[in-house]
Amino acid sequence: MAVLKVKDDIFSIGAIDWHRHLFDQLIPLPHGTSYNSFLVKGSEKTALIDTAYAPKLNEFLSNLKKLQIDRLDYIVANHAEPDHSGAIPAVLEIHPEAKILTNAKCKELLQAHLKISEDKFITVDNSTVISLGNKTLKFMISPWVHWPDTMFTHLPEDKIIFTCDFMGSHIATSELYAVNEGAVYEAAKRYYAEIMMPFRPQVKKYSEQLKNMDIEIIAPSHGPLYNRPEFIISAYADWASDKAKQEVIIPYVTMYESTGKMVYHLFDRLMEKGIKVTPFNLPESDLGELAVAMVDANVIVLGTSMVLAAPHPAAVYAASIINSLKPKAKYFSAIGSYGWAEQLGDKMGEQLKGYMPSLRAQMLTPVFSKGLPGRETFNKLDELADEIYNKIQE
Ligand code: FEO
Repeated sequence: MAVLKVKDDIFSIGAIDWHRHLFDQLIPLPHGTSYNSFLVKGSEKTALIDTAYAPKLNEFLSNLKKLQIDRLDYIVANHAEPDHSGAIPAVLEIHPEAKILTNAKCKELLQAHLKISEDKFITVDNSTVISLGNKTLKFMISPWVHWPDTMFTHLPEDKIIFTCDFMGSHIATSELYAVNEGAVYEAAKRYYAEIMMPFRPQVKKYSEQLKNMDIEIIAPSHGPLYNRPEFIISAYADWASDKAKQEVIIPYVTMYESTGKMVYHLFDRLMEKGIKVTPFNLPESDLGELAVAMVDANVIVLGTSMVLAAPHPAAVYAASIINSLKPKAKYFSAIGSYGWAEQLGDKMGEQLKGYMPSLRAQMLTPVFSKGLPGRETFNKLDELADEIYNKIQE
């Protein structure tokens, strides 16, 4: 990755990860990602804002060397997760004079993850002001976007805020800024769904704070920067709002097509009513696309076959993901088919709901069938479609 100038004496020096396909061994990365890092040269002091993921160390250090700095005064750590902090020990080896500026929680986590000694840290809070000469660093402690340690760093003279994970996107691109806003919107929404959606109260609060600041550039540490901050601030306001859209998602797993027939019967009835409905065949679906659909959906219907007298593990996995992501859906139901355990089959809806204590959704009438669905089951699915329609009109 090349070194790119953001403004006078401010450079983007991070690493692009074009070929990374999975994050946290969980999140698919269809467009790769980047680990953005910024070097800020004041008239008296120099600061590095975040670093990079250790596997991209060579690329990152090569960029740092290109700027030929004599000394590095500060390394700002906005977040301790190793995709941003992993290169800190290597930077400290090259620049042992540097001190790490971070908040108390991030310091604790950096010490846990990277075993950095106490004397390397200067602890900052919302009142700290660090002068670099003609530039100033200020800090906004902003926990839970993504870990409890997260913070933003503000450079008021240049009207830039460095938000680390917040408002980022997993997209590898040679473009410094979000020039192709359509593509970045999709990537940023996916990123929001996967990383930020569980923290909607904090997302709303910090988005509002940024909206009220005099900022020209939002510089996250994944994906392109925003030189039109209102683009991403308004997108975040929509995604994080409590208002769900009239949309239904049906993540499902079917073993012998009985559950599949039920899913597509319900799908047809909802479609006929003009409701946007999206099915996700769980064993073949992209987890990120399911997460994106959860950003707006008001109703989640989980479809499952039965395995060993319990919901199919793929449906349990989906329930676990839903529980973790805490979508805003107001209604939940479950449908599916079982082979022989009729005394347990009708209980699968409650079982699945039990896996999702974080989902504050009202349970609508579940529909389960012994074996292939017949007319009685299809009638119940018609009633469920009516119930969904009536609920989302409210
Ligand atoms: Fe990009 Fe939470 O780290």
